[in-house]
Amino acid sequence: MAQVYAAGMRNRWLIGGAWSGDHAAEWLEVKDPASDACITRVPVGGPLQATAAVDAAEETLREWRATPSAHRADCLDAAAELLLKHQSALAHVMTQECGKPLTEAVGEVRYSADYFRSAAEQARSLQDESIDSHRPGVRAVAVSEPLGVCAAITPWNFPLAMLARKAAPALAAGCTMVAKPAEETPLSALALGELLLEAGVPHGALNVIVGDPEAIAATWLADKRVRKLSFTGSTEVGRLLMRGAADQLIRCSLELGGHAPFIVLAKADLAAAVQGAMASKFRNAGQTCICPNRFLVHQSLAVEFTAALAMAASELVVGSGLDAATQMGPLINDQAVAKVKAHVHDALQNGAHLVSGGRTLALSGRPDRFFMPTVLSHCTTDMLCFRQETFGPLAPIMAFEDIAHAVAIANATPWGLASYVYGPPAEAERVGRSLECGVVGVNESTPSSAYAPFGGTKWSGFGREGGRWGVQEYISTKYLAVRD
Ligand code: SIN
Repeated sequence: MAQVYAAGMRNRWLIGGAWSGDHAAEWLEVKDPASDACITRVPVGGPLQATAAVDAAEETLREWRATPSAHRADCLDAAAELLLKHQSALAHVMTQECGKPLTEAVGEVRYSADYFRSAAEQARSLQDESIDSHRPGVRAVAVSEPLGVCAAITPWNFPLAMLARKAAPALAAGCTMVAKPAEETPLSALALGELLLEAGVPHGALNVIVGDPEAIAATWLADKRVRKLSFTGSTEVGRLLMRGAADQLIRCSLELGGHAPFIVLAKADLAAAVQGAMASKFRNAGQTCICPNRFLVHQSLAVEFTAALAMAASELVVGSGLDAATQMGPLINDQAVAKVKAHVHDALQNGAHLVSGGRTLALSGRPDRFFMPTVLSHCTTDMLCFRQETFGPLAPIMAFEDIAHAVAIANATPWGLASYVYGPPAEAERVGRSLECGVVGVNESTPSSAYAPFGGTKWSGFGREGGRWGVQEYISTKYLAVRD
C-alpha cells in the first residue's frame, strides 16, 4: 500500500452513519494512476448495500426534512469549514486516487466547500411563497418540499466536487441521499461522508457505497422510495440511466459529455486567449467535461496563437500529481491514453500538423500514462478530435475566416455543455449568446462557480447544479389553495 495514504481516511461503505463492509466477499483496489500503486482496498457492494443505503436514507428523511432549514444551513456551513480545515489531507487523497496535481486538488476541495456555502445560503432563503392565483377568496401558497431520497452517481474526474454539488443542495432542500462514487475514486466521497457526520448532518442523511455500478444503479432505479437521480458522466451511461428511471418516473439531472468550442475572434487579446486556453484545456490533463475540445481561431491570429499555445504547452511540467512542481498529472487509465492516441493519430493521418507533444512521456518506473500536452494545427471538422470529446490533453486548432462559419461549426454537434469566446467584450458576448450550450466563458476560461447554474443542453444533458438552480432540482413545489 502506498504510504502517503492519510490516516483516518475511510475505505468502507457508509450506511446509516456506520462504516461497514469488513466481511465483503469481493474487494477492489484503489490505485494511484501515476504509479499503479495500490492506495487501499474497498469492499465491492451490490443490491444488498444499495437497498440498505436507501433504508437508512428513508429513515433519516423524516427527521431531516422536519429540521428547520436554518439548522440545515448551519450544518452545511460547518461542512464547508471542515472541508477547508482538512483541505490538505483531502487534496492528498484526491491526487492519489485520480492523479491531478495537488494544487488543483486543493482548488477542488475549496470549490467543494463553496457548494456547501452556496447551498447553506439557499437553505436559509427557502420559504413558502404567497402567490396571486387570480381566484377570488382563495389564499394561494407555493410550498417548497424536499423530493425525498435522492441518488447520486459521480465520476472520477472531480471525485469530491461532483458529490459536493449534488449532496449539498439535496441536503439544503431537506432531502437525504444515497451515493455511489466511481470505482476508481471512492476515497474522496467516503471522506466527505465522514466530514458531514462531524458537521452534524444526521446519520443516514448521506450514505456512500462503492461497488458494482450497474447493480447499484438498477437497484436504486427500481426502488419506489428513490425520487431523484443526479448523474455526472458519459452521455451513453446517462441514456441508460434515464431509461431505467422511466419506470418509477424518477426525476433526473444529467450532466453528460461535452465538446466545447474555444473561439478566438480576430481582435482578441492574444496573450489572454492563450492563457485562458492553457488554464482550461490542460486542467486535470484535459479530463473535464467543460474543457475546450476544439479551437476555432480567426485566420489572422491562427499562426501566432498556435505558436504561443504550443510554446506554453511544451513548458508544462508533467509528472505525478504528488510532486510539488507538477502542473499536469497522468491520465486516469490506459483506455484514456488510447483514446488520445487514436485522436492524434487520426488527425495526423488526415492532414493535421503536429506542433507540440503528440506522445506519452517515458517517466522512469511509471506506467505509460503521461500524455504530453499536445497542440495540432490545420485541423478540419471531419477529424475525430473535432467530432468527439477527447477527454485528454489535446488542443486541435482550425483557422476560420468568417465568424458566422465559426459559430455554425461550434453549434454543429449534438453536445452542448460549455463554450468559450475570446475577443472584444461586446462582440465576444454576442457570439457567446449565439452558442448552443449551458455555460459560456466570454474572455473567461474557468467559468464554474458554486453560485451559478452549471449544466448542459442537447446530449450534454439537463438539470442545473449550483446556486438556487441546484437546490430547485431537489424540490417539489406544492400549491396550496386555501379558502380561509
Ligand atoms: C466537469 O468537468 O464535469 C466539471 C467541471 C467544473 O465543475 O468546473
